[in-house]
Amino acid sequence: MALTYGRALRERFNLAADATFLNHGSFGACPLEILAEQERLRSEMESGPDAFFRGGIFPTIERSRLREALAGLAPFVHAREDQLAFIENATAGTQAALKSIAFARGDRILLTDHGYKAVRLMVEARCAETGAEAVVVQIPIPTDAEAIVARIAEAASRPIKLAILDHITSPTALLFPLERIVPLLRSQGALIFIDGAHGVGQVPLDLEALGVDWYVSNLHKWLFAPKGTAFLYASDAVAAITRPNVVSHYIAMGFPRNFDYTGTRDNTGWLCTPAALRFFEALGPAGVREHAKRVLDAFTEALAPLGVEPIAPTSLCAAMRSFVLPQSRPVEDADVGALTGTLWERERIYGQSMAWNGRLLFRVSAAAYVDAADAPILARALDRHGWPARRARVNPP
Ligand SMILES: Cc1ncc(COP(=O)(O)O)c(C=O)c1O
Repeated sequence: MALTYGRALRERFNLAADATFLNHGSFGACPLEILAEQERLRSEMESGPDAFFRGGIFPTIERSRLREALAGLAPFVHAREDQLAFIENATAGTQAALKSIAFARGDRILLTDHGYKAVRLMVEARCAETGAEAVVVQIPIPTDAEAIVARIAEAASRPIKLAILDHITSPTALLFPLERIVPLLRSQGALIFIDGAHGVGQVPLDLEALGVDWYVSNLHKWLFAPKGTAFLYASDAVAAITRPNVVSHYIAMGFPRNFDYTGTRDNTGWLCTPAALRFFEALGPAGVREHAKRVLDAFTEALAPLGVEPIAPTSLCAAMRSFVLPQSRPVEDADVGALTGTLWERERIYGQSMAWNGRLLFRVSAAAYVDAADAPILARALDRHGWPARRARVNPP
């Protein structure tokens, strides 16, 4: 495969040719060749379901096809195959870890206000069930690594049972300085769960070195695997308590095989992991990440004349960056739909706008198929149509 990124790479995806896609971060996009591999696997499954499941998937098979696929993924994330389980998505992996922990009344669960809404909701539900308490650390923007570490350290000065931190945050696209935060929480005795929904593929992963209890990551985002694919890592210390969301025949096998068969499911997405790894390796992880940096620089430069500022320094950015669209009043929920609708319907641009702590944010995902030339396209569109309650520029051109 020629090492080419940007527009030229779009022909390897099914993305509509007339559109500008700046939101790889939400759902990913799967290359045609990986979708073809999934079709091949589906056809094999449907031509002989018994042979497929009983002969290849059941967790009693020593080298089952899921275990083989995880053995291929393990060195890529610096973990052992028996520390990894496939799961449908980051949401399900987070839920499994949360349900696996026996919380007592008064236990504190640390989160940040940059976390994913569904995660906050499931923590609230778990607190309601157990009497645990959610401690949401506020990290105002603009921010930097010092401020993030300081805020978390302050909250962790009282005992924390579980800390849930994002590797790369969703609304604000911040790459958290985990190498500083994890030792700090460890020294306080907290269990640590990392929501790495955007981790694998977007940043190099060394789970052994990271030293956390659980790490969940979607394969369907930055590793280009089919939808509904993620992995859950559990350290040796918590493996024995880690249980899937669904209790089924093989629950007694313990982690990770208790996750391998929780009823009849379509396993073909997970079985595409080797193909996704091949695609990504051929693309060149270092080249993909360099490309993302160049593309995000182009967006930062193109948006600056509109008064649209990034919320954090490039040192806290991987392949996504969030920008604040300045408004003359606090953001309203309807603003998000209005901006998203205008950009899509009038300009065929899809980017992720979000209301976050009173501000209107716009997140750019610099996937390998996004081009620096997409930056002026977005800037012109934003300038032409504006956004709800757009604040007048201090220095109009
Ligand atoms: C930080 C974070 N956590 C969790 C999720 C949920 O991912 P999924 O919908 O694949 O479960 C997302 C989705 O974008 C996310 O950004």
